Amino acid sequence: MSRSAHPAGPRHADVMTEGHYSAPAADLNVLDEKVWARTVTRDADGALTVGGIAVARLAEEFGTPAYFLDESDFRARCRAWADAFGPDADVFYAGKAFLSRAVVRWLQEEGLNLDVCSGGELTTALDAGMPAERIAFHGNNKTVAEIERAVEAGVGRIVLDSFQEIVRVAHIARSNGVRQRVQIRVTVGVEAHTHEFIATAHEDQKFGIALADGQAAEAVRRTLALDSLELIGIHSHIGSQIFDMAGFEVSARRVVQLLAEVRDEHGVELPEIDLGGGLGIAYTSEDDPREPHDIAKALSDIVTRECESAKLRTPRISVEPGRAIVGPTAFTLYEVGTIKPLEGLRTYVSVDGGMSDNIRTALYDAEYSVALVSRTSEAEPMLVRVVGKHCESGDIVVKDAFLPADLAPGDLIAVPATGAYCRSMASNYNHALRPPVVAVRDGEARVIVRRETEEDLLRLDVG
Ligand code: LLP
Repeated sequence: MSRSAHPAGPRHADVMTEGHYSAPAADLNVLDEKVWARTVTRDADGALTVGGIAVARLAEEFGTPAYFLDESDFRARCRAWADAFGPDADVFYAGKAFLSRAVVRWLQEEGLNLDVCSGGELTTALDAGMPAERIAFHGNNKTVAEIERAVEAGVGRIVLDSFQEIVRVAHIARSNGVRQRVQIRVTVGVEAHTHEFIATAHEDQKFGIALADGQAAEAVRRTLALDSLELIGIHSHIGSQIFDMAGFEVSARRVVQLLAEVRDEHGVELPEIDLGGGLGIAYTSEDDPREPHDIAKALSDIVTRECESAKLRTPRISVEPGRAIVGPTAFTLYEVGTIKPLEGLRTYVSVDGGMSDNIRTALYDAEYSVALVSRTSEAEPMLVRVVGKHCESGDIVVKDAFLPADLAPGDLIAVPATGAYCRSMASNYNHALRPPVVAVRDGEARVIVRRETEEDLLRLDVG
């Protein structure tokens, strides 16, 4: 494509010089397997299929917009993480990325544990039969009622996030006559290379207790002094959508240093450390995520090395991947409604969803890919912005991408890698009805979260 054939405005020129979209993929019909769920392919007619089912059939049966989740891919990713970390470590899937009863059952069947961060997530987990001891409960401001439910249910660990919470959890555990297993979440002072809103280990933010100036050591002191708490370890989560392992290594090193200080001060070797989640996935062909076994090896090497030099027993490691498991397994299917070529600027392609089913582009300037999936096309590529149907100009799904110039209303397009933080952050803005999540596996598709209806909206409106 030449620029003159597809004239661009100033923003386009920026993007072009950044190199991200300097040229479309050689052939827009080719699906980059890095960004699509594993069973996604094109059939002989050129239509995209997932789990062996063509998108036209899925759209007809389930409507659009809708999220289609490749169940075998989800399960395979769970197994890959569990195998990579092995029997001496624990993998907790971070439910905030996407949680439903079916997901909880898959996790159990594939041997994973679950991290929840609200009463709602806890209820979903317990309702779907996740054994409480396999649940970790997170949050920087858990309510007393949430803590009570977690303690009563017998969750395997509560991750303490503040000095107030140490006292609250201790009190509730004592009232219940139990000794609650807890970890302390520390902020290790790492600037993770990711969007500011999803970086969580630098000091100036709301999570955790700072290692710097002895705060975390003080939290350990107070926790160890309380009989109703069993301190099993230290937790650190540095952020999300991170590719560079350096931040995790610094984090691991600092957490092990704290374990050594705790041993020196209290004569106790805490048996576990949790290094959180945050591993990046491919949203576009530019992204190169690491494989779970690389990640596991890098983390366990650094922990082992640091423990050897501090003469500590190597603690049991746990991790909490959310996005890296569910993110790549789903795509959002939309129908094209209107197409507006703006002379000298760009072409706006409006779809039947938008920021209500994917807020990430507006919120984090996230990049996504998009493809025409109901057919192939030999037409020239055109630079487009895929936008939603909301009353807001920031309602952008894919900021800059190429689609074939013969794109027409009624075509189906799909945005890959929407499994994480899309349905879970979906809203009813403009009274949009949140789309369903449909699990597809071996030629069968079934709704695991149904589409919202107008009755659902009215049911909440009791005025
Ligand atoms: N563990 C803890 C304590 C967390 O806070 C998080 C994510 C995770 C694990 C899982 O992180 P993951 O592996 O999924 O990156 N809404 C943002 C992401 C916020 C992440 C919040 N915490 C987004 O859409 O990018």
